[in-house]
Amino acid sequence: MKNSTYLIFLLAIGLALVSYKWIYSEATAQVEVASRSTIDDILTRTSVRSYTGVPVDSAQIDTLLRAAMAAPTAVNKQPWRFVVITDRSLLKEISEEFSSMKMAESASLAVVMCGDMEAALPDEAREFWVQDVSAASENLLLAAHAMGLGAVWCGIYPLQERVTEFSEMLRLPQSVIPMACICVGYPSATPAPKDKWNPANIHYNRW
Ligand SMILES: Cc1cc2nc3c(=O)[nH]c(=O)nc-3n(C[C@H](O)[C@H](O)[C@H](O)COP(=O)(O)O)c2cc1C
Repeated sequence: MKNSTYLIFLLAIGLALVSYKWIYSEATAQVEVASRSTIDDILTRTSVRSYTGVPVDSAQIDTLLRAAMAAPTAVNKQPWRFVVITDRSLLKEISEEFSSMKMAESASLAVVMCGDMEAALPDEAREFWVQDVSAASENLLLAAHAMGLGAVWCGIYPLQERVTEFSEMLRLPQSVIPMACICVGYPSATPAPKDKWNPANIHYNRW
C-alpha cells in the first residue's frame, strides 16, 4: 500500500471514530437532559387551584390526553374513557355542585377521567380499572405541569353521590364510571410543591 493511500485510510478510520463518539455523546446527553427534566417535573408538580382564564388550545388538550393514554394498564386493557369539559356552564355547574371543586369555575377545562366496565378485566381483576385510570390521571397532571399549566385531581369514585351526579350531568353510558375530575388552566399563582419525602415510609426487603 502506498504511503498516501495508507494515510487516507487512517484518516477515514479516525474520522469514523470521532463521528461515532460525537453522535453517541449527543444521544447520551439528550437522555440525561430528558431524564433530569422528567424527575424535576415529578418533584415540582403540585395541585393548582387558581387559574388566569387564558384559554388552553386543542393541540395542548390533545397532548394532555396523549400523555394520559401513555400510562400502563393491567393486561393492556386501556379501560379509560375521557370527557373533556370546555363548556363554561358545565364547569360552573361542577363548581356549584361540589364544594371541593370550586376551582372548576375558573378552569379553562376539566377532564373527567372514567373507566368503562365493558372494557375492564372480568371478575376479581375488574377493580384494576381504578389503578389504570389513576395512572392516566397522574400522567395528565405531570404533562400539564411540564407544559406550564396547572391542574388538580378532584376525586369522584368511590363516593356514590359524586358518581351519580357526574354520570347524570355528563350523560355517561351505564358501563362508564367517572373516577376523577381534573381541572386545568394556566396558574394564576404558583404554589410551592410540598416536600413529602419521608424515609420512615420505606422498608427494604421485609417490613
Ligand atoms: C384521590 C384524590 C382525590 C382528590 N380530591 C380532591 C378534591 O376533591 N378537591 C381538591 O381540591 N383536591 C383534591 N385532591 C388533591 C389533593 O388534595 C392533593 O393532591 C394533596 O393535598 C397533595 O397536594 P399536591 O397535589 O400539591 O402534592 C385529590 C387528590 C387525590 C389523589
